[in-house]
Amino acid sequence: MKDGLIVSKIRNGTVIDHIPAGRALAILKILGIKGVEGHRIALVMNVESSKIGRKDIVKIEERKIEEREAELITLIAPEATINIVSDYEVVEKRTQKIPEVVRGILKCTNPSCITNNDPEAVTKFRTRGRKPITLVCEYCETKLTEEEVLRQILQ
Ligand code: CTP
Ligand code: ZN
Repeated sequence: MKDGLIVSKIRNGTVIDHIPAGRALAILKILGIKGVEGHRIALVMNVESSKIGRKDIVKIEERKIEEREAELITLIAPEATINIVSDYEVVEKRTQKIPEVVRGILKCTNPSCITNNDPEAVTKFRTRGRKPITLVCEYCETKLTEEEVLRQILQ
């Protein structure tokens, strides 16, 4: 189904496409968008996609996505495409890879990990698996599952 049947094209802004179905709200959370900022936003959820079964799409007018935000997005939507739209045209299409190392965003679930005890310590996880996402704490080897990553981001 073409999402155009549900919401119209945007003039200027960002379209995040190919989000796994049901995760659009988590994307808004990552972007810190609560709806009161005044951007015109369209959420398309659970539409058919030829690439990933069912997908969500988030369209935000007059908003750019920072590198760090894009990195976070890959953790819950590894196949997402970030489309930059200018004057109705897609002028840039970014696909991001899950980073090798994720710093300072997620918490280690091991209470005795140094990152939970030294206030100066910054968390650092290595990507061990991409489908589903599995991250491993650099300090204590504790694994973070995709479910846990999603839970922390939605918190
Ligand atoms: N889009 C939009 N407003 C525009 C242009 C594009 O909302 N002015 C949306 C489209 O509806 C689509 C996404 O941005 O969801 C990407 O657009 P486009 O690259 O034209 O679509 P596809 O070629 O189907 O993208 P892909 O190959 O990434 O699936
Ligand atoms: Zn740890």
